Parts: sequence; structure tokens; C-alpha cells
Amino acid sequence: MKVGIAGAGFMGEVHAECYAKLNGVQLWGVAEKSQERMDKFVTKFAPKKTYSDVFDMIADEEIDVIDICLPSPMHPAVAIEALKQNKHVLLEKPIALNLDDALKIKQAAEVSRGKFMVAHVLRFWPQYTVIRKSLQDQLLGQQIQEIYASRFNELPLWSEGTWIMEEKQSGGLVIDLMIHDIDFVMWNLGKVNRVWCKGIYNENDFAIQVMAVLEMKSGAVCYIEGGYLNPSGSGLSSQMRIYGSDGLLEMYSHQDKIKLVETGGGQKELNVPSMDGYFEEIAYFVDCIRQGREPEVVTAQDAIESLKVCLGLRDSLKRGTWIAID
Ligand SMILES: NC(=O)c1ccc[n+]([C@@H]2O[C@H](COP(=O)([O-])OP(=O)(O)OC[C@H]3O[C@@H](n4cnc5c(N)ncnc54)[C@H](O)[C@@H]3O)[C@@H](O)[C@H]2O)c1
Repeated sequence: MKVGIAGAGFMGEVHAECYAKLNGVQLWGVAEKSQERMDKFVTKFAPKKTYSDVFDMIADEEIDVIDICLPSPMHPAVAIEALKQNKHVLLEKPIALNLDDALKIKQAAEVSRGKFMVAHVLRFWPQYTVIRKSLQDQLLGQQIQEIYASRFNELPLWSEGTWIMEEKQSGGLVIDLMIHDIDFVMWNLGKVNRVWCKGIYNENDFAIQVMAVLEMKSGAVCYIEGGYLNPSGSGLSSQMRIYGSDGLLEMYSHQDKIKLVETGGGQKELNVPSMDGYFEEIAYFVDCIRQGREPEVVTAQDAIESLKVCLGLRDSLKRGTWIAID
């Protein structure tokens, strides 16, 4: 299987490292417009071919998989063209920055011979797969009342230019970062009724730390916080606390076990397998292609539903009111 990586930036390298570990997968090409990034990528991964224009890479008949790690505004044009050429497409989140584009991608995927998946990586991340299984096994009881989820990072200085800190480019903090946890809670609790949001802004009027409230159709409430105010050197920290009718589950990214406190007073520690979420995600997508099956863990519709809620939250951030989600 021959893979072409579109965008040799932060995520392009992360994905390339995963493909390099898979048997029978060849890192065939890379498309990158910055010569400096291209040189760095070539030194590290030695792909067979390089392209300064991503559409030339898509036109390469040798390539089976196009893995899109480009800035988010480029997702629709590149994904749709690759699907038209019947390539398999792994697309970094968010699927797109608006619903029209997201629907066009979904339609292109429906008629393509290529498989399509949006890289919502928490669905493959070890801590979160343990949480998912705990909920499916009803370790917290039948009813989930509340989820608190957070994801705090330092300023995103790893990406080319400043596009992540520009709302027109990245969609803003909710669509770029908080979508991870929003997607995860929706995967587990289902659809959202209405949302509300409050943010802290930087000098460029960019919401840099945000608290979102999601009222779920199930009756549960989710509080999701995200931001870039972690002091330099402290890295990424994430956490999830889930209150259910039979107990509380606590996950902190710096701890290697997940704590389950039962309503009756008992306590358990759940082991987290030592796996790399990015590798699991990419190995799963490659396996779906090999087996000829649809990547059901993340469907295009799932990615659209998560984007819809993020867009509602961004609206709430601007208007300061509750926003209903259809
Ligand atoms: N799943 C995750 O954990 C995660 C984390 C970070 C970013 N992302 C997503 O990954 C995507 C990429 O983000 P990133 O942080 O890697 O950004 P980045 O800026 O580090 O990388 C993007 C690369 O694309 C290149 N590029 C831009 N325009 C191009 C063009 N026309 N042709 C070829 N190359 C071009 C840039 O030069 C850059 O090297 C975004 O959609 C982002 O939301 C996902």
C-alpha cells in the first residue's frame, strides 16, 4: 500500500511515523509547500517522491492513500479531489470549517471507491478507549449525569505560521482543539440539545481559553474546557470526570491508571494499555482498506455532527446565548 502525506508539518510527521511502523505500507510521497519542512521530512522519512503541489500527488496513479495533514481550510478541496480519484483518504480533524463543505466531502466519499475517515483520534487513544469500554459495560450505572472534560495546551507554536490562532484559518479554539472532547462525549452520549459557551480572549480578539456547556438529549450535561494558556514547558494536560448513577470515573493525563469510585464506597483502578493512539488510528484505517470494510469507528456523519456542535458553540461564544442544535 502506497501512502502520500499532504502537509509535512506537525501532524504530517506524526502520521508518517505511524505508517513507517506498519508492514506492507510504503511512505511513497509527500506534498509540502515549504522547502524547509520538505527537507526536514525527506531527511527523516525518505519518501520516494516529493511534490510542491498536492494535486500533483493526488494525480499520481501509484498512490493508494492520501493522508491529509494540511491546514483546515484546505481539507475540502484536497479531500474531494482525492476521493474523486478513488484514493483512500484519511483526513485530519476537523472535517471542514463549515457544514456545506463537510457535506460535500461526505457526498464525495459516498461515491468514491476509496475509504474515508476523519482522524478523530480520541476514539483510539488508550485512556479514552478504556473510558469508552467502562461506559459500554455500564461500570458507572445506566445513567450518565455529567461529564467534565478538559484539554489545555501551551500556545500552538509548533505549526507553520500562526494559522491555528486565526479563526478564519483554524475555525477557532472550539473547532480546532475542543472538537476532540466534544466528539468523544457525543460518541458516548449521543446528540446534543443546546450549547452555551464563555471564553477568555487575547489581544487579537482570539478566544484562547473556553468553557463550553453541552446539554445532551440524554439529559446529561457536559462541561468541556479547552485552551492554550498552559505555561511554556508544561505541555498538554487533559482530564475527564464522569458522574454516573453508580459512581464516578476520573482520568488525568499525567496518571497511568483511571480511578473508578463506586457509589457503594468501593474503589477500582483501571489499567490503561500502553499504546499510541495515533498508531492505533492509522493501523485501523489501513486495516479497513485491506479488509475492504467501512471505517465504522468514525463515520463522515459523526464528524459532521461534531462540527455542527462546535459551530453552535462558536455562535454562542459570539452572542452569549444558548444555541439550539438540530
Ligand atoms: N489529531 C490531532 O491531534 C491534531 C493535532 C494538531 C493538528 N491537527 C490537525 O492537523 C492539520 C494540520 O495541522 P498541523 O498542526 O500539522 O499544522 P502545520 O502547520 O504544522 O502543518 C501543515 C503543513 O501544511 C503545509 N502546507 C500549507 N499549505 C500547503 C499547500 N498548499 N501544499 C502543500 N503543503 C502545504 C505547511 O507548510 C505545513 O508544513 C489541521 O487540520 C489540524 O487541525 C490534528
